[in-house]
Parts: sequence; C-alpha cells; structure tokens
Amino acid sequence: MLDPTILIVFGATGDLVNKKIIPSIYNLYKEKKLPEKFKVIAFARRDFKDGKYNEIISESLKNYGSLNGDEDLTEFFTLFKYHQGNFDDLSAVQGLGEELKVIDNEFTVSANKLFYLAVPPDYYEELFNNIHESKIPEQQGISRILVEKPFGSNLESAQKLDELLGKLFKEEQIFRIDHYLGKEALQNILTFRFSNVLFEPVWSSKYIEKIEIRTLESMGVEKRGEFYDKVGALRDVGQNHLLQMLAFITMENPEGKDIRTERANLLEKLIPLSDEDVKSKTYRAQYEGYKEIENVDPNSKTETYFRLSCGLNSERWSGVEIVLEAGKKLASATKEIIILFRPVGNNVRNKIIFSIEPTEEIKIKFLSNESGDKSAKSEKTLDFNFRATAEKKQYVEEYAQLFLDAINGDMMSFISSQEVNAMWRFIDSVKDGWDKDLVPLNTYKPGENIVAEGYSYNL
Ligand code: BG6
Repeated sequence: MLDPTILIVFGATGDLVNKKIIPSIYNLYKEKKLPEKFKVIAFARRDFKDGKYNEIISESLKNYGSLNGDEDLTEFFTLFKYHQGNFDDLSAVQGLGEELKVIDNEFTVSANKLFYLAVPPDYYEELFNNIHESKIPEQQGISRILVEKPFGSNLESAQKLDELLGKLFKEEQIFRIDHYLGKEALQNILTFRFSNVLFEPVWSSKYIEKIEIRTLESMGVEKRGEFYDKVGALRDVGQNHLLQMLAFITMENPEGKDIRTERANLLEKLIPLSDEDVKSKTYRAQYEGYKEIENVDPNSKTETYFRLSCGLNSERWSGVEIVLEAGKKLASATKEIIILFRPVGNNVRNKIIFSIEPTEEIKIKFLSNESGDKSAKSEKTLDFNFRATAEKKQYVEEYAQLFLDAINGDMMSFISSQEVNAMWRFIDSVKDGWDKDLVPLNTYKPGENIVAEGYSYNL
C-alpha cells in the first residue's frame, strides 16, 4: 500500500502543470495507482476558487491528457485544493503549513509531502528558502523536493544550487527530474543488455565501432521562446536526456549496486572537448524563422540543432566514437540509439537500433543468405516492435512513473548531484567553445533533415 501523500505544486497555473502534472496524475488516478489517501495542493498567485481551478484541470486534460470529452471529472476534482499565494512570500508558504495540517487531520495520519516546483529556475533559490523557513519539512511525514531541469545553467551554477539545497535539505529528499528516466523504452535497454546472454560479451570497443544517439523533433520551439532562447538544444536535451541515454547504453551492470552511482561513474568518463575538438567535432545550427518567435532575441545565437562527436575515457569504450545529435523543426521525429559493430570480414556490419520514436522498437541488422542462392548474402532485420508511440501523449506516462517513484521514495530514476556535475563538466567544454565562436552558427530550413558536413545521417 502506498503512503498517504500530499503533492504541493508551486506555479500551479503554468504551462508545466498543464502539460505534465495534471495529465499524469489523471493517468495514475484512472489506473487506480494513486495512494488511497492523496491530495494535490495547487499553489499559485491568481485569485481562484477551487471551482475555477477545476476549469484549468479540464482544459489541461482536454489539451494534453487522455480525455475524450464526456468523462465525469467530479471525483477527480476532489483530489485538488487551490491555495492562493505568492511563492516568494514566506507568510503565504507558512499558510500552506496550516492547510497541510487540516488535510493530515482529515487523513488521520501525517502524509508525506512532495513539493514540486513548476516555477522558472530564477525563483528556485527563494522558494527553497521559503519552504525550509516555513518549517513544513519539520512536520511529521517525509518531505521530498522534486526539482525540474534545467538544474543550473553550467557546472558552477549547478554546484551553487546544490550547495543551497544541501544546506536546507538532505540528499535523500532531493529528487532531480529527467523525464527520460521514466521512459519504458530506456528501462528496457537495461533488460535487453543485462537479462540476455547474447549482448554483454560483445558490448565493448573490441566489437563496437560507433554509437549514435539522437533526438530529432519535428516540433519547433512554439510558445517556449523565452525559456528556450536562454538554453538552446545542447542544454535543453543534450545535458540531460542524451547523456542519460548514453549512460543506459554504456554503463556497467547496475544489478545489486546503486544504479545512480553506475550512471555517474560512466558519465564521469566523458572526455571534455578541447578547443580543437570543438572546431572539428561539433556542428550547430538554428532554423530559419526561429528569431521571429515571441520572446526570442532578434539577434539570438541560440542553437536549435547540434551534432557532436565525443568519446569515453574507459578501457571498455576507448576509441569508440559517440555521436550525439538533437534538434527541433526537422523533417521527422526520430529518437533512437544506434550501435554500429565493427565489420566481420565483409563490408556489412551488424547494427542494433533502439528506437524510442516513432516506434518503441529494437532492431538487429545482420547478414543472411538469400533463399535458394547460397552465394547471395544480404542484410536482414530482426525486429521487436514494442509499440507505436503515435497515440502516446508527450510526458504523461513518464511523469506518472516518476511521481509513483517519488511517492515510494525510490530515487533510482532521479538524477544525483554526482551525475549533474559530470554532465555539466562535459557540456561546459562544448558550450565554452561555442561562446568563443570556434564554430559558426549555421541555419537550416524548417522541416529539413540536416546533413552536416563530414557526417552522414543514417549509417
Ligand atoms: C524536454 C525538452 O525536456 O524534452 C523539450 O525541454 C523536448 O524541448 C522534450 O521537446 C522531448 O521529450 P520527449 O519525451 O517528447 O522525447
């Protein structure tokens, strides 16, 4: 049975909540996976009554959730309570403490408290301080803090943020979110690698030549101009999702060990790029029309696409080329990891493709004789199609899974500070080179797939 839990959402009328929180809580509610005693406190500035907040819930589910229109949401609404206040106002956060006590009384037990910060990162510091000073975390029940990415904007700022968090809370209370860790397809990579005998023996530089990891999106920056322009593709998805995919594909077997430490050990092996590397191994570009997006600087130099090649300083992976690629407004949504094996006496190489979008699928490419002609060999594919992702709503399943983990106090699918630091150390080396303009910022047409010079898309 799951512990009684109260989820406190700061910034409850914002975009993040609409897209991620409400639809994923609804998903858990529909599947009867929520704790029996569960409430959400929606904390925001606007003067809403609970009834008005219900409209936000309905709209969110219509736009981003799995609602077909005629469901009765009356019972679902009762899970939510609206609390008006400014999160930079300590007395408002203290007032929340009273509200929590009322719910604990109704529950006749002290529930665990999950604090989710759906506010711009600039406000994190103040809000962390206010939560701490309100003394709510000292009330009975366990308090946990869920922190969204971006966690800092470089190594230095991430460490500063961590220092602050470390003063106010214990590490086991801090749940840093990367929603890719809630993806079934990523979890399945571990099962594929470690629950089958076939793959681990060849999982090294002896047999593998190259690993390509990409998240190409057809979607553009849309209404997120203000956020995105400060961040860019490298830090929006490179510093987190792509590097976590790399960790899943290359880390040592975490069985019986702490998987966070295993991921961090791998990420610490990333070789930072030198200025020379940045020049010869990175490519960045921005799509035409990006600068016209609302709240984007008309002279913006933010990349909406990048591709780079790097390596790992480890015995197992030494010499294996790793290509990371991500971008927006490209021809099609393709999210995948490709393992390219070294050739065996002929020119065709084995490949293993872990596809995340448009299908969750694992494909193995191998060479076979043609039927009836033993001299004719050709490439064939063994294909395991987990499911098509067309019907999957962005974020919903992942956040549902992560909320369940947080309710259970399971930190394995959350990022440790050791991982955050290792990821920034590598990303900073690229970003610093770009800030020095070591490579030009190219442009591309929306809806185009980029073939960067020196790189060939599709192996
Ligand atoms: C988010 C980024 O973290 O991940 C978005 O901020 C990106 O820009 C999204 O679109 C991609 O997530 P998914 O699950 O659709 O691959």
